[in-house]
Amino acid sequence: MNAWTLAYEGFDPGGEGLREALCTLGNGRFATRGATPDGETRTPGTYVAGCYDRIDSVVAGRTVTNEDMVNLPDWLPLTFATPDCGWFVPERADLLAYRHELDLRHGVLTRQLRWRDPTGRITAVSQRRLVSMAEPYLAAMETTFTAENWSGRLRVRSMLDGRVANRGVVRYRDLRGDHLTCHDTGTQDDIAWLTAITRCSRITVALAGRIDAPQKPASLQREADRIACEHVVELAQGRPAVVTKTVALTTSRDHACHDARSAALRHVRRAPPFVDLLARHTAAWERLWRCARLDVGGPDLSRIVHLHIFHLLQTLSPHTADLDAGVPARGLHGEAYRGHVFWDELFVQPWLSLRFPEISLGLLRYRWRRLPEARDAAREAGYDGAMFPWQSGSDGREETQILHLNPASGRWLPDHSHLQRHVGLAIAYNVWQHYLATGSMPPWCAELLLDIARCFASMAVRHGDRYEIRGVMGPDEYHDRYPGAAVPGIDNNAYTNVMTAWLLLRARETARLAPDLVPDQAEPDRWDEIGRRLRVDFHDGVISQFSGYAGLRELDWHRYRGVRRLDRVLEAEGDDVNRYKASKQADTLMLCYLLTGEELTAILERLGYPVEPGLIPRTVAYYLKRTSHGSTLSAVVHAWVLARANRAQSWRFFTEALHSDIRDVQGGTTAEGVHLGAMGGTLDLLQRCYLGLELLRDGLRLDPLLPGRLGVLSMPIRFRGRQLFIDADHREARVNGVACRFYRGGDAIMTRTGDLGRRIIHQRAHLGLTREEVAVRADMSPGYLKYLEEHADVPDTGALYRLADALRTTTEELLGGGRERPPGHGPAMANPTLEILGEEECLRLIAPGGIGRVAFNGSHGPTVLPVNYKMHEGAIVFRTAAGGSMDNDLRTGLDGVDIKIAFEVDLIDETNREGWSVLVQGPAHHVPPEEVPEVSSADVTPWAGGDRQLYIRITCRQITGRRIHGL
Ligand code: BGC
Repeated sequence: MNAWTLAYEGFDPGGEGLREALCTLGNGRFATRGATPDGETRTPGTYVAGCYDRIDSVVAGRTVTNEDMVNLPDWLPLTFATPDCGWFVPERADLLAYRHELDLRHGVLTRQLRWRDPTGRITAVSQRRLVSMAEPYLAAMETTFTAENWSGRLRVRSMLDGRVANRGVVRYRDLRGDHLTCHDTGTQDDIAWLTAITRCSRITVALAGRIDAPQKPASLQREADRIACEHVVELAQGRPAVVTKTVALTTSRDHACHDARSAALRHVRRAPPFVDLLARHTAAWERLWRCARLDVGGPDLSRIVHLHIFHLLQTLSPHTADLDAGVPARGLHGEAYRGHVFWDELFVQPWLSLRFPEISLGLLRYRWRRLPEARDAAREAGYDGAMFPWQSGSDGREETQILHLNPASGRWLPDHSHLQRHVGLAIAYNVWQHYLATGSMPPWCAELLLDIARCFASMAVRHGDRYEIRGVMGPDEYHDRYPGAAVPGIDNNAYTNVMTAWLLLRARETARLAPDLVPDQAEPDRWDEIGRRLRVDFHDGVISQFSGYAGLRELDWHRYRGVRRLDRVLEAEGDDVNRYKASKQADTLMLCYLLTGEELTAILERLGYPVEPGLIPRTVAYYLKRTSHGSTLSAVVHAWVLARANRAQSWRFFTEALHSDIRDVQGGTTAEGVHLGAMGGTLDLLQRCYLGLELLRDGLRLDPLLPGRLGVLSMPIRFRGRQLFIDADHREARVNGVACRFYRGGDAIMTRTGDLGRRIIHQRAHLGLTREEVAVRADMSPGYLKYLEEHADVPDTGALYRLADALRTTTEELLGGGRERPPGHGPAMANPTLEILGEEECLRLIAPGGIGRVAFNGSHGPTVLPVNYKMHEGAIVFRTAAGGSMDNDLRTGLDGVDIKIAFEVDLIDETNREGWSVLVQGPAHHVPPEEVPEVSSADVTPWAGGDRQLYIRITCRQITGRRIHGL
């Protein structure tokens, strides 16, 4: 099996919907489902990110307004006919071979077929299609025809079709979907065009299409909403002939656009030939994969991981960053949930923030731009700050439908899911994750987080000695009210309340980062108070999903085994899922997904709830038994929360999450669009759960817990402006090839990794090979090899192995298997230069703290020891063991003894061939007990661990330093 290919053999009309969704091609600006260009059982769909329209429909006697991501004119139609035979239609054709193949690495969809017409002529057809990742307005399809046993004229008909509507989801078919109106068509210099306008949002959409064929068009058929042209291609037996259709899709929402029609025409006119378009497109994908790569070992697993990354990046790419678009729950791949933006970004953005921070910033900006609407919603509901809608679309107003159809009963029912206020918590969580990943909190991000915090603080109302949040829904959509209650909503959803406590802590930190935004100290004080007194209920030794949950009935799970949508089935039976201890998806357990065990414990304790041992595992086991997994998000969360306690079960959930779309585990839903949250969630799970990558304020921690089936895991990430390569196996995790559990941006851990380039050059010279020769052996371009030789970067694992093979060495060696060797053992440069550093520069260099060395005359002779130091009020501070050799030898505790010692810090950067060292000289003393509390705030952690409680301070009497260039 190929880890980069998704292939379908044979034509299966019944499976087309699923195949179309999974073979969607997109570039983050627009996407087109993988519908055939010629079939009858096709559900074509082309969607532009952020292009919505509202329309009224009458259902169950009520007028409802829905906003949809609009299905735009279909650019695909292209069919052909052999002499005296009808147009090719796969459903009715005598197919000798038929195969679809999606190349996940390069974003190319290929269809290959052989067709025998009724007269026995056999024609081979090969189609390649792309939606350009390089030029975000362009798409193209190249068709190669080969007459195998005949020669003659082939008619080829191509169309731009505006007669489309939102008809992709069966249960919405009672609702109107005819969003396009005012169609128009025409041609200009052999380029056909079609325009239409969305009914309510009045967005003009334009398609322009160019056909490159051996002959000029023979005829043109123009209708108001369709334009088709026919070419006649002279086929000579065995000789391929190529017809290429290149289109541009534009809208009046685009940047730098006068009008959509002229823009489409201009884009398509200057579009290069297919081969060049393809070359630019694949190069753009190569660039994306360089950052997005995630190697898991094993082609089966790799293929699904690639599929998930591929569809994520097709929906959210660097082109999206500037578009004012959010995370549509079902991608740009279908019409389920109408292209709305829910809380699913919670599962998607943490992965993006560590690779494509600009995309994730663009997604936060989508939310920030809708702050006025969210503020208004909060005000209307009687709250402060900003209340984001459960479903968001064009302008950020609440788009949740007021009625939904239960397909099991055929009844339209009231929908209260807008009460899922927790969507705001997801946005704030992403702001914080982005801050931790990038180290930057732009003022507008701070504003977003603070306004959400204000809203939740005002939703918390004092009852007795607790604050309560009433009348909401948690992520579990089965509980939208108390059984029999007239008013919807439940009280004190544990997920909402605990995450509110978390948010209020973050809001206090954000207020310190952006003090101008919180001028009144009374506000953080209030947040502090609420954050200590929010109510959380408990029953049977577990956290209660909400107040009153304990009183619900147990469901007969045996009877409903395997039913994922209990809400629908019970309603069809005249019952109500609200009556039962049954969850659609993880709700309380979301807490263990977003917070570490320590964080959750700390928050509960801060709220005044003593956390008894076993509370968390008990809570996990309790809800696990009572969840039907009616959302694909559920498997992701359960795989996560079980990762430590039950690895086999965690793996089963992970496998289910991986198969959500490729196997359509929710039975028919993928055809309506992929589940982007589950796709992103599986990727995030690999990095933050199995790899145990935790973002902290002062660095990142790696605590891998690889499931047995996952031999290795490796990925590049971007952390605070640096590109890092992380890999782990069952033994250890490494950052840029160096074993590491804690990485603090910019400290000494990086120093040895950059000489990969030098090792390659050295080994190449040793073997007497040219760069080109090594590149051929390692199956990589000489350009990339040159890049690796010259830049501090590490190739992906596969490439590294090939390179090691080509150089007849091992990956260990290449990555500094010389870990056990001192740095700088390679040859020196010819002309190193030394620069004397001033005192100020020296202080600046050592200010961040880290590992330094103290040198002194010990009782056994001159001694040098490494210590982990911090700077505190101009002095060096470190910890050692009281009465230990350093303490005794230096007599640091004795008054009047003033033994001068040396302290040195250095950095050797072998990649850039430079380094520096700073030498401090001065007396070392115990920090007096009365000053210890203050000094300990510098947070000096002894490098060697153990009981090192004695604080030593070196007073800087003399500071000197050198910088070396051309090491
Ligand atoms: C889930 C929600 C999710 C939505 C969109 C629903 O089925 O319950 O949590 O946000 O789908 O993916």
